[in-house]
Amino acid sequence: MPEAVKTAEAEFSKGLEGVIAARSVLSLVDGTGGRLIYCGYPIQTLAQNSTFEEVCYLLWHKRMPLKTELEELDHLLKTNREIPGELVDLIYHFPRRAHPMDALRTAIGYLGMTDPETETMNPEANLRKAIRMTAKLSTITAAFHRYREGKEFVPPRTDLSHAGNFLYMMHGKQPDAEDTHIFDVCLILHAEHGMNASTFASLVTISTLADLYSAIVTGIDTLKGPLHGGANEQVMRMLQEIGSIENVEPWLANAFATKKKIMGFGHRVYKTYDPRCSILKEYARRLSEKHNSMTWFEMGSLIEKIMIERYGQKGVYPNVDFYSGIVYSFLGIPIDLFTPIFAVARVSGWTARCLEYLEDNRLFRPLDLYQGPENLDYVPIEKRTS
Ligand code: COA
Repeated sequence: MPEAVKTAEAEFSKGLEGVIAARSVLSLVDGTGGRLIYCGYPIQTLAQNSTFEEVCYLLWHKRMPLKTELEELDHLLKTNREIPGELVDLIYHFPRRAHPMDALRTAIGYLGMTDPETETMNPEANLRKAIRMTAKLSTITAAFHRYREGKEFVPPRTDLSHAGNFLYMMHGKQPDAEDTHIFDVCLILHAEHGMNASTFASLVTISTLADLYSAIVTGIDTLKGPLHGGANEQVMRMLQEIGSIENVEPWLANAFATKKKIMGFGHRVYKTYDPRCSILKEYARRLSEKHNSMTWFEMGSLIEKIMIERYGQKGVYPNVDFYSGIVYSFLGIPIDLFTPIFAVARVSGWTARCLEYLEDNRLFRPLDLYQGPENLDYVPIEKRTS
């Protein structure tokens, strides 16, 4: 494959659709086969057998760890959870109504200013920063949540898993084993996903040889947009608006008549069932039963049935966002924290991608298709008429 093409021969692709922007061994998103694979392991296998910590190792090292290697990483993730007291103070002075993604970005930017290794760009230092950021991002997210609720910061514990500790810092009490496991699987499912917009944005930043903190700030900012990370929020808001199982059919009929997009359906790559969605659907069902509250799940299942009947042939199926909102809600996570939680998981994939890209770095510098005039005469300002 040629590494470059001349302008005259280059094809324009709006939104870079269909353009291969990098080589990677980290994940395969198979849109027609409905498969997601991390470093050779199908997502179902990882969801069933692995942990978020092990998936972090897999992505950062491109292979499964030995027992001692996983123990070492687990120890590092646990002992790097704390954030500086000044950062806790800073978070507790953020505007209360700030978007949580803005809070995350600002806090990671602050950490970048305090980390003595920020500007050290060798692979070992970058891996250490990846571990630190992954460990601390969940503490930052929980801290901002506690602050907004008018509650005290809950410092991290070192005896809980990454998933368990996050729920503990959010709620101030230790979660049960089932909630911890389900949240752990959510983190695994969201850790990595091909050349999505935020991953691409992070790679553009790291390709300039800016530091890893800057690349992750770019990723967070890009994930914020509703076309990327924000769809699961919209799904919960839609379920709230529909309100009851009886209202599903009339609400959808109206949405179809007004050509409204139904959130949590369709995907740029998956043209069949998103493999992450079936896993989340099962957990949404389990949690609904546990809480003896089936309404959202039943509404979701009915919406799914009607949507697949209508749009399945066009390749529109439920995506990862459709059931994740129901799962998060039962885990006590407020709607506007769904996207930050995505970042809590995806920071592993963003950092892994950046480490991988730096192995064979090439500055991203696409072309554009200039469509303006050329050689205009300069008219002095006093002589311009329009
Ligand atoms: N609701 C209703 N119709 C939808 C739809 C949805 N969520 N997603 C796609 N369609 C329709 C399109 O309008 C199009 O109809 P047409 O053939 O009459 O023009 C057809 O299905 C095929 O759409 P497609 O071109 O495959 O979608 P896309 O690649 O342009 O868009 C998304 C992909 C994700 C942007 C789009 O599906 C969407 O906006 N979904 C809702 C938001 C969401 O859940 N995002 C999270 C993605 S993980």
